[in-house]
Amino acid sequence: MIQVVHEITKVREIVEQWRQDGYTVGLVPTMGFLHAGHKSLIDRAVSDNDRVVVSVFVNPIQFGPNEDLARYPRDLEADTRLCQDSGAHLIFNPAPEEMYADGFCSFVDMIGPTSELCGKSRPGHFRGVCTVVNKLFNIVRPDRAYFGQKDAQQLAVIHRMVTDLNIPVEIVPCPIIRENDGLALSSRNTYLSTEERQAALVLSKAIRLGQQLVADGQRNAHKVVEVMKRYIEAEPLAKIDYVEAVDFRSIQKIDTIRHEVLFAMAVYIGKTRLIDNFIVNIDE
Ligand code: PAF
Repeated sequence: MIQVVHEITKVREIVEQWRQDGYTVGLVPTMGFLHAGHKSLIDRAVSDNDRVVVSVFVNPIQFGPNEDLARYPRDLEADTRLCQDSGAHLIFNPAPEEMYADGFCSFVDMIGPTSELCGKSRPGHFRGVCTVVNKLFNIVRPDRAYFGQKDAQQLAVIHRMVTDLNIPVEIVPCPIIRENDGLALSSRNTYLSTEERQAALVLSKAIRLGQQLVADGQRNAHKVVEVMKRYIEAEPLAKIDYVEAVDFRSIQKIDTIRHEVLFAMAVYIGKTRLIDNFIVNIDE
């Protein structure tokens, strides 16, 4: 039976026992309302490790003042069932006061990979992500931690943080999981009306268009971005926040498509902000 634990000291105690028993530990950090995308991370963690912790915590400090913290979907019962069925061993579900006690004032910040894309449109977002992920690493001390490629900038930022701060954890990237019609899975898809759900397909269709251009030999990043933007702009319910091509490691803008390039987008469908991306690796 999976354990649901709310206190940091209790998680530490359990994980410490696992370590003494010689078990390896995987961590899947999430904000809950788990879907098949999260399940793919948990499945991978279960197959790689003896014990798996899933953290379910809607981290207040990574949301801006006008963002969806209050209405972010939550369903711990369903999350517990999914984790249990996937073979995870423990859910860590702290209250905000457990993670950010009175007087909390230490943060992990980053320059460089956080200056573009979501870092630009959501000031303070990655400071919140880096801080909470660091805390989770310190609490669980996992051998491996699992992150989805849908949040590609987050993945690059966490890679960088772990390298820069010598955090002894292996970061395991996991592929984007999509609905049959192409929509990338996201807890925020639940905000979409039927009409918006249909309009949201513009993201994955723009991605396919971009992928095709690169496959056909286009190496000018601006031209690919331009075609993707024009395609998205033709959808009346869509409003582009950004569509950009950046180097996948540094998350800095590029002109020519070479090595690992991330094509990333954030698009509002109605009031819902969705992100999606693809990565190409061109070595020629
Ligand atoms: O990707 C997410 O769900 C969150 O940003 C994370 C990594 C769990 C930190 O709150």
